This record gives sequence, structure tokens and C-alpha cells, in this order.
Amino acid sequence: NSYSEPFRPQFHFTPQEKWMNDPNGLVYNDGVYHLFYQYYPEDIVWGPMHWGHATSKDMIHWDHKPIALYPDELGLIFSGSAVVDSNNSSGFGTKENPPLVAIFTYHLMEGEKAGRKDFQTQGIAYSLDNGDTWTKYEGNPVIVNDGIKDFRDPKVFWDESTSQWVMILVAGDHAKFYKSPNLKDWELMSEFGKDKGAHGGVWECPDLFKLKVGETEEEKWVLLISINPGAPNGGSGTQYFVGEFDGTNFTTNHEDIKWLDYGMDNYAGVTYNNVPNKDRLFIGWMSNWNYARDTPTEVWRSAMTLPRKLTLDKDESGYFLKNYPIANFNKLKKLEKEINAITLDAPFEWEAENLNHKEISFTMNFKDEITVSVRNSLSEKVSLAFNPKENKILFDRTGSGIVDFEDSFGKEIQSQPYMPIDKGVEVKIIIDQSSVEVFIDKGKYVFTNQIFPKKVYTKLDISGAEGAVISNLVINNIKSIWN
Ligand code: FRU
Repeated sequence: NSYSEPFRPQFHFTPQEKWMNDPNGLVYNDGVYHLFYQYYPEDIVWGPMHWGHATSKDMIHWDHKPIALYPDELGLIFSGSAVVDSNNSSGFGTKENPPLVAIFTYHLMEGEKAGRKDFQTQGIAYSLDNGDTWTKYEGNPVIVNDGIKDFRDPKVFWDESTSQWVMILVAGDHAKFYKSPNLKDWELMSEFGKDKGAHGGVWECPDLFKLKVGETEEEKWVLLISINPGAPNGGSGTQYFVGEFDGTNFTTNHEDIKWLDYGMDNYAGVTYNNVPNKDRLFIGWMSNWNYARDTPTEVWRSAMTLPRKLTLDKDESGYFLKNYPIANFNKLKKLEKEINAITLDAPFEWEAENLNHKEISFTMNFKDEITVSVRNSLSEKVSLAFNPKENKILFDRTGSGIVDFEDSFGKEIQSQPYMPIDKGVEVKIIIDQSSVEVFIDKGKYVFTNQIFPKKVYTKLDISGAEGAVISNLVINNIKSIWN
């Protein structure tokens, strides 16, 4: 496969062919970053789920691996996580050769069709060869279901403070926390969320981890919860909570709803277990259940977001999470153009043969509305506008190219609240073949969006009120990870 079909991303992960959704089992082990994913090997629409598999040494270049987990008599293999069982607590391996253990949801289609409510249970599988081959545990399921229709997406991690495995899973409108000494026997500890956060849709794909606050010694726990529908700009999105976890209960006292990304295409994202330097590394699925099955690709369907590092910070309005491309992404860059400073007396324009596979970054100082757009010879365009009067950032893909495959895809201009600050705003726009990722102020404000232009974008323009200043404009070419 040459990875050269129309719309094929050049530096985002996509399967060689067929349908993909959520990232699963993100774990680092022995020099290898594993990426498993929801996969249907027969078609480019969702179907009976398997765990596809790819590995990487840098989270940027990927090797495709054989399918890791196949459906069995207990059901399809839905989303979940993976851990390195270093002490061999499960007994699946030895201390010398500790097992990788995957924890996932079994979805029993026959049960669902029969109208039962207990068709989702949790199962485990292990690998003794760093993920190449997997054996399912004969005692599956390890958590049965006593009548909760949506009961899935277990995220397991080793909790250092209590020396035990902790699992978070979602149950419709809340999260449940379990503990285990051995990954096989699980005990329910607590619940969170019925009266907190956004509830416009079902809760999915939880994650829980601790982060430092900025450069301080303060630490906070962050709970990620994907929700579908109910995202701020429609369809699927990821909210998060900042609070405390004492080994048993997660608590928070902020009332505002926090979102990881205001674009429409960052869903079901979770973070890696076992990363050596303790960085919190995140990958999301770059699509939205509103139209995931309808996007105009033919050989495969959908991509992952760029891998991102999550950090936590704080300002007058409270704690906030930032997400920003990992440093290894810089390896793909090749400088194409650099301009120190431009005063916007007239719109700034720059033309290239091809603006796809580019990273455009700059700092802006402005008082009135300012708009950045990229467009092609058919006048298809994407634009990003700052409106400091209304404290909003707007992302517009309504005329970005093919938008009519589904009603909500290119309908509304996306909007996110922002607090203007005196120093310049840092903007980074990364365009691949069929996506635009915007990171503002190092990932404090983010939009991740798919686009399907009929021709490549070739023109960049920045226009705004007189007196606005653009500095440190850098355009980098991004190398393909496949060719
Ligand atoms: C999220 C999700 C999960 C589920 C999986 C099924 O996108 O709905 O909740 O496990 O996809 O493929």
C-alpha cells in the first residue's frame, strides 16, 4: 500500500485499509509504544470489533502488526487498556518475563439483539512476547454485568499510593472505580459523575491520571470522559474533571464543564501507561460518531490525532489541561519559510504549491478581530478567527471542500471561549491531507478537525485591523511517515 490515495493522511496514523475507531491498550513496554485500536477488517464502516495493532519506537513512525484480539463466544472486543504487569501479579508470566495484560469490554451482540441489558462485560488477555501474540484468560469475564446497558471501556493503571490495580469504567451516566491485586479479581470501590459534568450523551472511554500543576509542586488528578453526543460543537467530544483521587474516591469541586478540544474530531482519546519519563501521552480518534461512517474515503476510514503531551496549568478561572504535539513530531519538520515581523497594514498573503503537509506557526498581537485562512484555487477554505470583543475563537470549515456527506459536518462555525491576554497569542496550525489541528497558546485552546478539500490548499492569508502585528512566522514542511 502506497498511502497515496485521495485524502490519505501522510503523518497521522491510519490502518492500511478498512474501518478504525478508538485507540486502545496504549502502553509502552521495552522500547516499544503499542497502539491497539478498534478495528473492523471486513469493511470501511463499523462492524464486529477486533483490536488492530501497530507499534512504534517514537510514537510517530508506525509498523503495522497482525490483529491482536478477535471476537469470541463472549462477544466482540470493545475498547480498553493495557498494562505491564511487572510483578507478575496475574501469574500469567514470570518475574523475569512479565506479561502485558489487556483489559477490554466484551460486547455480546446476541444479548443486545435479544433486548438484554447485560451484554457488556469485562475480559482480559495476556501476551508474553511484547504484544505479538495474545491469549485470552480462561476465567473471562472478570467483571460481569448486573444490568447496565452501557458498561464499558475499562482503563487500568497501577496506583502507587495504595499498591494496587485501579480500573475506571463507564456505566452510562457515570464512572465506576474498581480495585484488584491481580487483574483477575475486581472489587467495586466507588462511583463518580451522576451529578457532575456534561450529560448530553453516554459516557465513554474514561482515563484517570495525576499531573503536576505548571512548574509547581502541586499535583492534581485528571479524569477524562468522552461523551457522545453532547460535545460543545456537536456530536462526540471529550470533557475532563480536575480533582483528587485518594485511592478509592475521585472528587472535584469545579462546577464548570471543561473540554479537551473544541474541534469536532478528537474523540475517545486516552493516555499511555508505563511511559519511562512519566510524560502523559495522549492519542485520540480523529472523527465524530455524527459522520464517522460517511466521510469520503474509500480504502480505509479515519485517522488518529497527532500524539500529544498533556500538561496541567492554572489561571484566574481555574485549572486547565493543555494538549500539544509531542516533541518527536519535530523530527518530521523541514523549514520552508521564516518571517520575523509583519504589520498588518494590508492582508498578508503567502502562496505555495501545496499547503498540505505543513505546520504554520506565528505569534499575533491584535486588538480587533483577526482571521487566518488557507484556501485553494476552487475557493474552498478553512479559517480561524479571533474575536476579542466576544472572547471567542472561531473555526470555520463550512466551505472547506466536500461537506455534504452528512448534515452536521460543515454546518456550523465552531466556537470556543477564550480569555484575551496582553502578550501575543501563539498559533500553530498543522495541516495534513484531510485534517487541520490548531494549537493556540501551546495547547490551551485546541481545534482538531477533518477536512476534505477537492484540491490542495495553496494560499495562506492573515487579515485584521490595522496595527495588528504578526511575528515569528515559520512555515515548516512535514515529511511523510509512510514514504
Ligand atoms: C467509543 C466507543 C466505545 C466502545 C467502542 C466500540 O467510540 O463507542 O464506548 O467501546 O467505541 O467500537
